[in-house]
Amino acid sequence: MTKQSRRTFLDWLLRGGLTAWFASIIYPVFKYMIPPDAPELNISQIEAGTLSDFPKGSSKIIRMGRTPVIVLRKKKGDFKALEATCTHLDCTVQFKTDTEQIWCACHNGFYDVEGRNISGPPPRPLGQFNVTLKDDKVIITKKDLA
Ligand code: FES
Repeated sequence: MTKQSRRTFLDWLLRGGLTAWFASIIYPVFKYMIPPDAPELNISQIEAGTLSDFPKGSSKIIRMGRTPVIVLRKKKGDFKALEATCTHLDCTVQFKTDTEQIWCACHNGFYDVEGRNISGPPPRPLGQFNVTLKDDKVIITKKDLA
């Protein structure tokens, strides 16, 4: 191997190594910036749990596909299921057992137990879901399918 061809070979090796090193840094950055294709799960009904999972005055947040749903059992014992995303800026709401209201901690927004916006910045009521009891199971269904 001549001196010139050795130098050419080392140049090629160095460039290839630098290119591979650069690609190993850039590729994960691009993969992070471009979200993967995740099709919307077409779930229309989900089991939220059993009756014993919901003592009177309690709540639980479940997911129907990508949509968080707050399932609550009022003090009287009847159920309600509402979209758990605040209509103001999409924070997750929570159930306040003592006042039986739904509260958004982000900007102190309040909804009544039926999901109507009653104070604070939320501009619209929360979306509604149907709740049915089948044997001991609490079944949540999208409103337009019931
Ligand atoms: S995001 Fe809920 S009140 Fe602002």
